[in-house]
Order: sequence, then structure tokens, then C-alpha cells
Amino acid sequence: MGEKQILCIGLVCLDIINVVDKYPEEDTDSRCLSQRWQRGGNASNSCTVLSLLGAPCAFMGSLTSGPVADFVLDDLGRYQIDTSLLGPHPGCSFPASIVISNLRNGSRTILHRNRNLPDVTAKDFQKVDLTRYKWIHWEGRNPGEQVKMIKQVEQYNTTVPPEQRITISVEIEKTREELYQLFQYGDVVFVSKDVARHFGYNSAADALKGFYSRVKKGALLVCAWAEKGADGMGPEGVVIHSDAFPPTAIIDTLGAGDTFNASVIFSLSAGKSLQEALTFGCEIAGRKCGVYGYDGIV
Ligand code: ADP
Ligand code: FRU
Repeated sequence: MGEKQILCIGLVCLDIINVVDKYPEEDTDSRCLSQRWQRGGNASNSCTVLSLLGAPCAFMGSLTSGPVADFVLDDLGRYQIDTSLLGPHPGCSFPASIVISNLRNGSRTILHRNRNLPDVTAKDFQKVDLTRYKWIHWEGRNPGEQVKMIKQVEQYNTTVPPEQRITISVEIEKTREELYQLFQYGDVVFVSKDVARHFGYNSAADALKGFYSRVKKGALLVCAWAEKGADGMGPEGVVIHSDAFPPTAIIDTLGAGDTFNASVIFSLSAGKSLQEALTFGCEIAGRKCGVYGYDGIV
């Protein structure tokens, strides 16, 4: 067996990206500067970045069949992302996002459609050979099932020596009540600025102080805050901060958070400190904001 992989579980979708120099007004007819298809979805984007950073990685999610699925599979292959755990669901509609990427300010407006594609379940996860992974990351989506999967990993971890244990991370990005149970399950927990704001916090530091009591003993809690950089907190209760690394021009912020998460995971999994990981995360995410897509960030 080669080097152990980092496995990311969550969404893969199609992003139809329309680049504009001015956000369109409703009920107008305007031209975009360019339009492209890009593989998207938080966990899938994080795999792209992990792979570019040189980490062997695998993606687990649901896929339909048809031309869009072919495009997505080809692209996962182009980045050497292991797709052996992708579950086929023929007959379901493929999740897709229309993305308006505003060249003037780098903003990205996402209109996402996800109709009937089932998320990965604990039953699907039972077939996973856990000896292949050193880290498993869950994008919070169907937490009831995801908690069951995490418990399978925790159980596995009790049966192996410490150096073979799998590190567990979770991302709580959307403001959905049921996702908040995931706080207590990760060794590393990523909470978004959207969730933080939803709880009334106006900075990453305040969010960490407010949320830290929800995480399990010894866990790291991380909160990114766009151009303000990112903060993290471990069991010592001290807020660690990295400033952002703004690129010369903000071109495309789509997936900045997914890039940040991947870079933090990459760094921590290589044994770096929380401070080093946050700084690396902000550096790579900053570079991502200065290019289209992900190529060229490393
Ligand atoms: P998302 O909205 O994609 O979830 P965030 O806004 O939380 O992502 O940003 C994640 C990271 O990306 C930030 O911690 C920062 O390092 C970087 N980033 C995002 N926006 C900018 C920006 N405008 N300038 C510099 N860095 C940025
Ligand atoms: C970016 C992203 C896009 C996708 C959307 C889904 O973080 O994963 O690639 O369209 O979010 O919510």
C-alpha cells in the first residue's frame, strides 16, 4: 500500500460559471465576458486543492450517469483524485450551480440546484477500507448519517495504534440547525462566517470563543473570514490568527473556503502547528482568489 490518502466526503456538482464585469440587473439581457463548466462542490473542490498540493486524496460522493457525470469524472481523473468510492445513482438529476462571477469585485453569486441525488449514507460507508486513510473530512450535509460514519471511524481508531488513527474533520458551512450537532465530532472543525454571523458573532475570534464549548475535548476549531483572514482555537483556549494574503487583483473567490480548508488539512496532516496551518491556508486561498479556477495556486 502506498502513502495513506486524505478522503473528502460531500458534494460534487457542475458549476456553470458566467464571468461578468457588472452584476446583471433583473429582467435585462446582457452578455457575459466568458462562460465555462467547472467541477464544483465543497468536498470535490477541496480534493482538487489537496491533489495540487501533492497529497494523495480520494473523493466520496454521489454521481449520476450521463454527459455531465462524464465531464466530472474526467476532471477528477485529471487531478488524480481517487474516485473508487463514488456511488453511481443513474436516473437522478445532476446537482448544478449557476455561478455569476463578478470580475469587478471578485464576488461569486451561486444559484444551486440539487433535487433528488442521495447523499452518502453510513451503509455506503461500511464498504470503505479504513486502513487506506490517514484523514477523513466530511462536508456537513446529512449529519444524521454523517455522525454514524464518524462513529465507525472512532470505533476503528480504538482498534489501531495511535500512529495509525484517522483524523476526523468536519465543515459546518450552511446555517442549518441539524448541522450544528457536528461541532462535537471533529478533531478539527471548520465553521463558516455565515454560521458565525447567524449566531450573532461579528468576528472569527468572537465566533471561536462562543462556539468552542461545543467541540469535543482537545479539538481544533477554525473560522475563516474572507479578507480578514482566519482564526483558530485549540484546547488552550487561545485565539490564533492569520491575516489574509490578498492577491494583486481579486479575480475569482469561488471555492476560496474549500481551498482554505484543504490547505489547513494538508498542513495539519503534515504535522504543522495550528498557526502554520492557518497561515498556509490563507496564503493558498489568497492565491486562489487571484486566478480563475485552481490551476496555478501552487
Ligand atoms: P468562502 O466564502 O468561499 O467560504 P471565505 O470568505 O471564508 O470563503 O474565505 C476563506 C479564505 O479565503 C479566507 O480565510 C482568506 O484567506 C481567503 N480569502 C477569501 N476572500 C479573500 C479576499 N477578498 N482577499 C484575500 N483573501 C481572501
Ligand atoms: C463553492 C461551491 C461550488 C458549488 C457550491 C455548492 O464552495 O462548492 O463549487 O456550486 O459551492 O454550494
